[in-house]
Amino acid sequence: MQSLEVALGARSYPIYIGQGLLDGDLLRQHVRASQVLVVTNETVAPLYLQRICDSLQGLNVETLILPDGEQYKTLATLETIFDALLAGHHSRSTTLVALGGGVIGDMVGFAAACYQRGVDFLQVPTTLLAQVDSSVGGKTAVNHPRGKNMIGAFHQPRAVLIDTEVLQTLPERQLSAGLAEVIKYGLIRDKAFHAWLNRHMEGLMAREPALLAEAILVSCRNKADVVAEDETEQGSRALLNLGHTFGHAIETATGYSEWLHGEAVGAGMMMAAELSADLGWLPQEALVDLAQLLQRARLPVAPPAGMKPADFSSLMAHDKKVEDGRLRLVLLRAIGQAVVTGDFDKLALTRLLERMCHS
Ligand code: NAD
Ligand code: GLY
Repeated sequence: MQSLEVALGARSYPIYIGQGLLDGDLLRQHVRASQVLVVTNETVAPLYLQRICDSLQGLNVETLILPDGEQYKTLATLETIFDALLAGHHSRSTTLVALGGGVIGDMVGFAAACYQRGVDFLQVPTTLLAQVDSSVGGKTAVNHPRGKNMIGAFHQPRAVLIDTEVLQTLPERQLSAGLAEVIKYGLIRDKAFHAWLNRHMEGLMAREPALLAEAILVSCRNKADVVAEDETEQGSRALLNLGHTFGHAIETATGYSEWLHGEAVGAGMMMAAELSADLGWLPQEALVDLAQLLQRARLPVAPPAGMKPADFSSLMAHDKKVEDGRLRLVLLRAIGQAVVTGDFDKLALTRLLERMCHS
């Protein structure tokens, strides 16, 4: 087993990474009192819920199984969690456990932030995306019909327990979507990791345990460093959004139903890299290399057919990084060196959208 710390002073917490961790007593070590509510969904429950409950034997454990899907990441589902907590007379010393992907983690984290003004929660992420990104850093939220993740809070977990074995049951598309976020860390701040991913992408797609563990460890180390530097995204944490401004436009334009988040981020990172090359920052070889890496991870490298430049322009205008009406993007000065900037030639963006929407 490997472990890392997210260094946030009194709110610091460990990330444990290893095989078979669901069965040990690590989770139990981070439960403060005797009450626990384990929240999962109907897909993950038959696979892993019993093992989590067994590892918490002796405590007063209740479970809640939610429907599966991003469409349930709502205030209405949050009510179900509060109902379960109140019906079970959970006190302020209770612990919530989020067992599942990013949807479960974000919702349970937000429920923990709100219940009695804040209780403990533990992340047990079961998708690659949740293991390398959403379970670390304390961003919690639900969606509103008018926008994704629009209602939420920063609330850090007490620990993150990553059992790499659970990735063996993950559908392949979900594995690829998680790899988009893994590739992101190399691009924004870790050139050596980017080179490592170039050497090992086929092994990662084949789910070789040692490679998956290494990719998760390095990704979590990068995420933990960024979060420790800028917990509430006043500055450098925005770099984690490489490809996301283009990606969110793709997700919104396709109704959040055709492309997975990681797939949209894959195409979005390619678009950000192309724009960076158009601005003279990235060499052509870096673009070819990135396109190949994304394709080896079975990720898209261009927007969906039918999406028009105007669709991007209008949707990107609502991005959270827009400041005083000025669009800011995460762009690449080099592989391993991202910047957030509004200071780029807008004509270059227009030309990029025209080129990529018709390729
Ligand atoms: P998800 O939670 O919907 O999980 C994807 C699918 O995989 C689901 O059907 C789930 O039931 C299933 N699944 C989960 N684990 C499995 C396993 N081990 N075996 C088989 N099936 C399994 O999606 P996700 O990609 O994990 O998370 C996406 C969510 O994360 C989005 O809501 C996004 O907004 C959020 N997110 C949050 C942050 C953050 O910092 N908080 C960062 C990135 C994404
Ligand atoms: N996934 C982006 C962040 O945690 O800031």
